[in-house]
Amino acid sequence: MEQRPGTELLKGSYYIETYGCQMNEHDSEKIAQLLEDQGLCPVDTAEMADVIVINTCAIREKPEHKVYSALGKLRALKKRKPDLISIVAGCVAQQQKQELLKRTDVLDCVLGTHAISELPALISRIRRERRRVCETEFRRDVTSLHMSAPRKGAGSVCSYVTIMQGCSNFCTYCVVPYTRGPEQSRQAYEIINEVQQLARSGVREITLLGQNVNAYGKDLKDGVRFPELLRQLSHIDGIARVRFTTSHPRDFHEDLAAAMRDVEAVCEHVHLPLQAGSDRILREMRRGYTYEEYLEKIRFLREMVPHVAVTTDIIVGFPGETREDFEATCQALQTIRFDQIFSFKYSVRPQTVAGSLNNHLSEDVKKLRLAMVHDIQSAITQQYHTDTVGSVEEVLIEGIRTATGQPFGRTRTGKIVNLEVSENVFIGDLIQAKIIKGLKHSLVGKKV
Ligand code: 5AD
Ligand code: SF4
Repeated sequence: MEQRPGTELLKGSYYIETYGCQMNEHDSEKIAQLLEDQGLCPVDTAEMADVIVINTCAIREKPEHKVYSALGKLRALKKRKPDLISIVAGCVAQQQKQELLKRTDVLDCVLGTHAISELPALISRIRRERRRVCETEFRRDVTSLHMSAPRKGAGSVCSYVTIMQGCSNFCTYCVVPYTRGPEQSRQAYEIINEVQQLARSGVREITLLGQNVNAYGKDLKDGVRFPELLRQLSHIDGIARVRFTTSHPRDFHEDLAAAMRDVEAVCEHVHLPLQAGSDRILREMRRGYTYEEYLEKIRFLREMVPHVAVTTDIIVGFPGETREDFEATCQALQTIRFDQIFSFKYSVRPQTVAGSLNNHLSEDVKKLRLAMVHDIQSAITQQYHTDTVGSVEEVLIEGIRTATGQPFGRTRTGKIVNLEVSENVFIGDLIQAKIIKGLKHSLVGKKV
């Protein structure tokens, strides 16, 4: 345990509920680490906790709704335990600020995205002064960017490492620049130190996190850019695999594909959000590339990194999306044949440029278009999985399924492989597995 200087130890237990993306999951890991360093112990249910943190996501409407229902449940808990401290952290906290405190009286603390490291001190203050607090200032140097934290739950072999935070792109549909602030890269030496520490503690796979990892280092003086960072990380003993997410197509160039080709540890998987296949919509979204330019990136990537898996994000029903625009997206899926996609109905976000447009599509049209995109992609993903049958893939064993006792892990391309229960493998093993079945969402393998 490493108590932070100038802070008092805390008594009791904590529980964290997390919504949203990998970035948020990792923020929850950092919050957990901070609270444990200050003396709080983790518990499995909200009912058992003295401190409850709801770490929220604001990227689409739906996850936001979950927060309000979670707050509803808090009321009953607070009644039973008046000293319970409830905290809303993450993007909804950042966005709504004081409004959240006004909306519900069961909340004690609103913790903005730049204030994570202040949480232990805030808890002490709330207990001492019995006052509700809201901490949502943006800082130039975000302390939590420099924090490392082991991954919870997913075994001890895989870990996230934040390399940058925030986003300065302002795509017209997206709330992230408003909730996480401008792009800020972490110094390369700090990242390398953290990865060395993780390697010493037995981590074998790291995932470098940032909203736009291809822009890494643009704001730093030392000149280390993302491809160079990958090369430097490859020299660290014990790290067998390096992944990264998310890439922005505009900043994705051949130098990164070259690093992927040359650096053994870097896995053959790129998540490259296309968003839409129509140039008109891409322009309206302010994505900074045309469909043809995107295709060119896929061309050189697939040429330079054989067997690379490419996944993407798609938004259907952006304001003013015509039938032709939508068909261009469907055509793009058929042409590019992504390994997997994450598709979303456009949802209005406060503060964004697209939110104030007046040509929004009906919920029914958006639903229909989303279902069509799902159908197209399901067939493609299934085909990829079927084609993998018979091949031998490297799998890093990440855990054992609680329900079935099956060991599982991922291929270098990020596909989930479940092994037979009888296989004699251990978490952290890097094995060769023959793929014997290709299912809808996963593969079944046998150790060779
Ligand atoms: N509506 C729907 N999807 C969105 N995304 C971001 N903002 C919105 C929005 N307002 C999607 C994008 C992004 C992913 C993380 O979430 O596809 O790449
Ligand atoms: Fe949002 Fe665009 Fe930044 Fe991604 S690149 S976080 S979509 S503004």
